[in-house]
Amino acid sequence: MPEAGDRRRRIGQFPAIVLGHPMRVAITGAAGFIGSALVDRMLCDCHQVLAVDNLSSGHVENLRTSANDSRLTFLETDIVSKRAHREIVSFRPEVCFHLAAHMDVRHSVVDPIKDARTNVIGSLSVLESARLAAARKIVFTSSGGTIYGNQDRFPIGEATPVDPHSPYAASKISGEVYLTVFRHIYGLQTTALALGNVYGPRQDPHGETGVISIFASALLEGRSAAIFGTGDDTRDYVYIDDVVDALALAAGQTGNGLRLNIGTGRETSVRMLHQILAEVVERPDTPTFLPPRPGELHRVALDSTAAARVLGWRPRTDLPEGIARTVAWLRNATTHGQPARIARRVAVPAETVGGTRSGVASSPTSGTAQ
Ligand SMILES: NC(=O)c1ccc[n+]([C@@H]2O[C@H](COP(=O)([O-])OP(=O)(O)OC[C@H]3O[C@@H](n4cnc5c(N)ncnc54)[C@H](O)[C@@H]3O)[C@@H](O)[C@H]2O)c1
Repeated sequence: MPEAGDRRRRIGQFPAIVLGHPMRVAITGAAGFIGSALVDRMLCDCHQVLAVDNLSSGHVENLRTSANDSRLTFLETDIVSKRAHREIVSFRPEVCFHLAAHMDVRHSVVDPIKDARTNVIGSLSVLESARLAAARKIVFTSSGGTIYGNQDRFPIGEATPVDPHSPYAASKISGEVYLTVFRHIYGLQTTALALGNVYGPRQDPHGETGVISIFASALLEGRSAAIFGTGDDTRDYVYIDDVVDALALAAGQTGNGLRLNIGTGRETSVRMLHQILAEVVERPDTPTFLPPRPGELHRVALDSTAAARVLGWRPRTDLPEGIARTVAWLRNATTHGQPARIARRVAVPAETVGGTRSGVASSPTSGTAQ
């Protein structure tokens, strides 16, 4: 019997570009910012996709590009549910990309139990499904921006001991540890990608994370964005297309048992980021400063030479180009002066992609880097 709130839809037709042998892949968090870009890429590469998402922070509209592809099946359910488990097992994916997560450092400090339910129990559930489906590999999105804590030497390599400052960081490390366990016991191939601060089109400008979209959206709307702390904190910003490349490469045979950092190695301060964005959107550079938030780190820059060596991955998009593309997308998504906020409220025919969830609230905005 289907569980309440669960829906399963077959959706669409997408022009195919053949890259590698066609596989069956399961993607959790598929309606999110990164997950939906990965869905598009996997379909482009001729793979068959089971997309799983409970739409808690993702939006079914993000899957619109692929909505007519018959190789895409969308399953609206929680990764912890029996239904998700059953459907992943019966789909028998060769590769599971596990991206579903409650992704918010600040909320993880306020409610660590909720964070752990999705990020720890959820990851374990997906691993169990992958094992029983006899999947070859699981690719997990860890967090290079949080797991290493505050370090003295930059860029940070994978050999640096982890030092979590938030329950979110702890949950990502826990996910990595469970990958190791499943590799040892069951021979499941595993690769964890420790991502920097990912940015680009489709990142929710009204969410709690994704400072580039949040700042750009506030500037486009003529609002003042909030910087938490002095603005001197730095992050390593990596563009969405480069991250999707890394995920696709990680699905291959290489990188088994490894955590690989995915970043540019370059630091940009939050204050500098606001200044760059204000110039691009031609608005005054006048952010509001608020007290720092618990769990946030001071500096992040990731050394990705291992990803270059093992996967052949390198970031191809520099910050000015990535920002230009992101701002162009936000401008394009603007309807009556409301960037992207409107887009996610547009009703999608239920028979096509399962419809929109009612009650998806817009955050009142403003935020800083995670
Ligand atoms: N965006 C970044 O800068 C960044 C950095 C490091 C790591 N990551 C990781 O990458 C992954 C994707 O991040 P994102 O930026 O696309 O975030 P996102 O919030 O856009 O996507 C997460 C998706 O997971 C779904 N989800 C959450 N809980 C779920 C559950 N219990 N069952 C089913 N679906 C659930 C959400 O609805 C959402 O669509 C996450 O694991 C995140 O921790 C992201």
